[in-house]
Amino acid sequence: MAPVAASFLILGLNITLLEDCKTTGKCVENLLGLIENSTVQVLALNDVTTFLDVVLNATEKFLDSSSADPKKLVSDGNRLLKASEKLVSMVVKQTNTSEYVSFTLDTVEGQVFMVGPKVTLDKIPRLDTTDSSVDIDLIGIAKNNNETRSAAVAFMSYNTMENLLKPDFFNASNDTIKTMMSTVISATLPKTTNTKLTKPVNFTLRHIREFDPSGSLFCVYWNISEWIVDGCSVLKTTSSYTVCSCDHLSTFALIMQTSRPPESDSLMDLLNLVCVIVGLAFFSLALLTFALCQWSPGVNNVARINICISLLLAHLLFLLTQRFLSLIRPLQVLCVVISGLLHFLFLSGFVWMFIEAVLLFICVKNLSQISSKKREVLSSGFLCVIGYLVALVVVCVSVGLVPKGYGSEDCWIKKEKGFIWSFLGPVCVILALNIIIFIRIVITLYSTLKNLNAEVSQMKQTKIMAFKTLAQCVVLGCSWILGFFTNGSKVLEIVFLILNSQQGTFIFLIYCVLNNEVRQQYRNFFRCLCCGRKKH
Ligand SMILES: *[C@@H]1O[C@H](CO)[C@@H](O)[C@H](O)[C@H]1NC(C)=O
Ligand SMILES: *[C@@H]1O[C@H](CO)[C@@H](O)[C@H](O)[C@H]1NC(C)=O
Ligand SMILES: *[C@@H]1O[C@H](CO)[C@@H](O)[C@H](O)[C@H]1NC(C)=O
Ligand SMILES: *[C@@H]1O[C@H](CO)[C@@H](O)[C@H](O)[C@H]1NC(C)=O
Ligand SMILES: *[C@@H]1O[C@H](CO)[C@@H](O)[C@H](O)[C@H]1NC(C)=O
Repeated sequence: MAPVAASFLILGLNITLLEDCKTTGKCVENLLGLIENSTVQVLALNDVTTFLDVVLNATEKFLDSSSADPKKLVSDGNRLLKASEKLVSMVVKQTNTSEYVSFTLDTVEGQVFMVGPKVTLDKIPRLDTTDSSVDIDLIGIAKNNNETRSAAVAFMSYNTMENLLKPDFFNASNDTIKTMMSTVISATLPKTTNTKLTKPVNFTLRHIREFDPSGSLFCVYWNISEWIVDGCSVLKTTSSYTVCSCDHLSTFALIMQTSRPPESDSLMDLLNLVCVIVGLAFFSLALLTFALCQWSPGVNNVARINICISLLLAHLLFLLTQRFLSLIRPLQVLCVVISGLLHFLFLSGFVWMFIEAVLLFICVKNLSQISSKKREVLSSGFLCVIGYLVALVVVCVSVGLVPKGYGSEDCWIKKEKGFIWSFLGPVCVILALNIIIFIRIVITLYSTLKNLNAEVSQMKQTKIMAFKTLAQCVVLGCSWILGFFTNGSKVLEIVFLILNSQQGTFIFLIYCVLNNEVRQQYRNFFRCLCCGRKKH
């Protein structure tokens, strides 16, 4: 077939098939076949990118609805790689000195550098895409091509190829977790007769996921059906990028292997479940008590009530999500919404803990003569706006800054690219403030107690005070700090789990069980239940 006619064939397909591919994705097989069989040598960059865009997008769409059969993935991946490399080779044309083209699509970025016999450079510039770059001695390769004294390199970085050429195709043993740490890249020497490398080729690959220091990194290349290491090595690695050196060209990627975490402990799971359910029950009991009991005027329960509401909903949603993860995960949108909602609920819980700490501090300092202006600031309505608005703002800003940060494997915040700090950051700040306020409260209380006469500070009273103080510490969230130190320690993990699921229980204990008024009301209530008549 004459090049012109074939080019026409491909462009003819532009009219008939391309639209179809954009909407249904069904034509991808045909399109790949046509590209494979095409004998076109040169095509305008615009046409090449149009085809690349359609082929890669169509494959992506096509894949969503197809089953994840490894054999199919591998064969689709191979065909796609071949078609893309062939398409890109069509932008290569003879040049006397040197020429450079590049393109950026959603699915792929590409760079092509061509040198000819009259090239004046002694080294071609580094080819850069967003997530990777390559250093190759193209001048040396061109010199080795005795007849033409020309060479070209095509470098591509595929953003979606890891869905086909999965990291799991590396290292047959499946007792490790494999994570793709870079985009899949490919480097070829199109229209170059002698492709022997004069120097190893070096790739700098930016880590697209968080690097786990306990994992090991492998520079790998794609060999028909699997990722293998032969001929590639890691030159240098930092927490944000890795340099790979390879003695041949092909399709490459950076894969991290981490050991599989030990099988999740079923005893721990059970303990977790029981603790969370007990915690939820006490959140509900506390809320019920707050709703039913009359409080003496001046008692401000608004923060406690809202801690209960936020955390009750957060723990409940979290529990349900984890129980039904296998049903929820396929519905990516739901998963994202849930993780956003969890982020909001837990954060507002923490903001309310802070408000509770401030209210408590004011109460302990006995600042009853605060001005009416300050009283206004502390009104329930205003506090509610703060309590929920702050969390809402954090969530909105997070969505704005990193739109894809929500919806991890377990429908929580993704840990990649530090997005988890949109949660940990505010939590750390609030915990730090709460601890400072808590220490101030304890100091104030201690000095007040010392001033009281011995009669009042009896042993029993002191014990209750001490318990209330410790419980208050849990209510203010101080026990969450343990979460930063559990690293491997089973005991700490259990303590963390118990304390944090029981914030509702401690609220119930301090404000309901240990509260004389409430106790009196419960006593009346039970008396009424037992006697079956109301007593006034
Ligand atoms: C491509 O060529 C092969 C054999 O040369 C043939 O079997 C196949 O049908 C062709 N594909 C298309 C889409 O023309
Ligand atoms: C790649 O790195 C190796 C080792 O540092 C070096 O010998 C080689 O020249 C580099 N290759 C290129 C093309 O710069
Ligand atoms: C897989 O990787 C592990 C750890 O790097 C190694 O011990 C094992 O031999 C590898 N297995 C295969 C089949 O390559
Ligand atoms: C590895 O995976 C295969 C297929 O998924 C499975 O049959 C096999 O039991 C696994 N091996 C180990 C050691 O987990
Ligand atoms: C690549 O795969 C082919 C077929 O599976 C195999 O024959 C060849 O040895 C592999 N190459 C390397 C370097 O392992």
